[in-house]
Amino acid sequence: MISKQLLAWYSLNKRSLPWRETKNPYKIWISEIMLQQTQVKTVIPFYRKWMSSFPDIKALANANYDDVLKHWEGLGYYSRCKNIHTTAKSLGEDFPDTFNELIKLPGIGEYTAKTILAIAYNKQEVGVDTNLERVGFRLLGLKKKSKFNSNRVKKFLEAIQDKSKPGDFNQALMDLGSSFCQAKAVHCSLCPITSECRATLSEDPLQFPEPKKNKPIPSVNVSVCIVYHNDRLLILQRPQNKMLGGLWEFPGGKIELGESKEAAVIREIKEETNLSILSPEYIGEVKHQYSHFKVTISLFLKSVSNVKTLKIKENYVWTTIKGLDKFALPKANYKMLELLNK
Ligand code: ADE
Repeated sequence: MISKQLLAWYSLNKRSLPWRETKNPYKIWISEIMLQQTQVKTVIPFYRKWMSSFPDIKALANANYDDVLKHWEGLGYYSRCKNIHTTAKSLGEDFPDTFNELIKLPGIGEYTAKTILAIAYNKQEVGVDTNLERVGFRLLGLKKKSKFNSNRVKKFLEAIQDKSKPGDFNQALMDLGSSFCQAKAVHCSLCPITSECRATLSEDPLQFPEPKKNKPIPSVNVSVCIVYHNDRLLILQRPQNKMLGGLWEFPGGKIELGESKEAAVIREIKEETNLSILSPEYIGEVKHQYSHFKVTISLFLKSVSNVKTLKIKENYVWTTIKGLDKFALPKANYKMLELLNK
C-alpha cells in the first residue's frame, strides 16, 4: 500500500537527474560516491563533466590521477576521488554485482552497496541513507536515535519495498526526504504517504527523530605565504593519505600558541622549503569552513630572488598564475588568490 502510493507519486514527480537516465553500474557508482555528503545540485555539473571525460571504467582507469583529481576539485572529501580511481584501476571492465564484492571496495559502505544494487541491478535491497532513515522514523513515529530503532526502520523499509522496482522505491524515498520530509521542514499535506505516517499526527513532526544538538565546531588559525620568484608562484602537493590529499596549495601552516602570524609564516616557510623570508607583506585574512572545523588564514606575499637554498620534501612546482589552471587546489586557495587580486 505505502509503496504503491509512493511509486505512483514518484512516477509523476521524480526529479529529473542525469544519473537517473541510466542503469549503467559504473555511472550509478560514480553518482552515489559524489552524492555522499554532497547535495544533489552541487553534484550535477561535476557528474556531467566527469562522464564526458571518463564515460566508462576503462577511460577512468587509464586517466592520469592529476587529471581525475582536477575533475573533483571543489567537490570536497577528496579521498572519495582517490578511492574511485584506485578501484577503477583494480576492477577491469566488469563492475561487481553482489553485496559481498561491493562492500570490499574502498569508499563503499552498506548504504552505497545496497543503493547501487537496487538502482543498477534491480536487486531487492534498500540503501538507507539519512533521508530514508528520517522518513522511516517518521512513518513509524520513532523519536529516539538508537541502533535498535535504526534497525527497526531498516527492516520496515525492506518489508514495504516494492520488490519489482527497488531502485525507484529507494529514489522515491530520497525525493520525499529532500522535499516534503526534510530534517528541518515538512509539508505533510502534500506528502503521498501521509495517511501511513505516525509523526504527522503529532504536534511537531520535526521531533521524529529527535533533532541533534549542534556541537560548536573548532577553529584553527594558520598563516600562508604566496612565495614568488620572477613571475612564478610556489605550490606544494599535499600527501595523498591526508585531508585534501593530492591537492596543491601555497606553503604555510598552523600558528602556534603565543606566536604572531608573521613569526608563524616565517617559521613554516623555513620548515617546509628551507627558504628564509624576511618581512613578508601582509595581505589580509581568508575564512573557510570545512565539515568539522573552521579555519582563519592570514595571507602573506613574498618575492624571493635566491632559490638556491630551496629544499622541499613534497612534490612542488613553480607555476605561472595561468599555469595554476592545470592543478587541483583547495577552495581556500582560490579565496586567497581572490583576496590578492583585490
Ligand atoms: N542521494 C543519494 N543518491 C541519490 C539519488 N540516486 N538521487 C537523488 N539523491 C540521491
